[in-house]
Amino acid sequence: MRLSDVRIINLPKILDERGNLSFIESENHIPFKIERTYLIYDVPGGEVRGGHAYKELNEFIVALSGSFDVVLDDGFEKKTYSLNRSYYGLYVPNMIWRSLENFSTNALCMIVASEKYNESDYLRNYSEFQKQLL
Ligand code: TYD
Repeated sequence: MRLSDVRIINLPKILDERGNLSFIESENHIPFKIERTYLIYDVPGGEVRGGHAYKELNEFIVALSGSFDVVLDDGFEKKTYSLNRSYYGLYVPNMIWRSLENFSTNALCMIVASEKYNESDYLRNYSEFQKQLL
């Protein structure tokens, strides 16, 4: 996959005086079936999460609170997205090297994934990732 396959997806936003509401339906608002959701939180200042690619997994990343940067690299070019709202997220397909950086205090990151946790789907070595692109 290339960075051109990455995109911001806006979620439905039901405005209400009682508080706004957004939602995500599997295979509707995001282009894959949801198999897992996980959260990243309490990230100490300056720490970086991720730093890997997935062979098969597609994901959708939302800043539920606070802000952080998603740094992407498809082996040809790099791009950084800053996420800071809960009514949109970043769709990142497989075979994109990605890390999560620059977390604000109290940032809460939700990642919706197309696969259950499977360590053998990770490419944790950048040169291995490059080899798989050939
Ligand atoms: P990992 O994905 O390597 O974190 P990072 O985003 O920093 O790359 O996950 C860290 C550890 O957490 C990993 O050793 C296994 C565990 N883990 C699960 O058990 N289930 C999960 O859904 C995830 C994402 C991680």
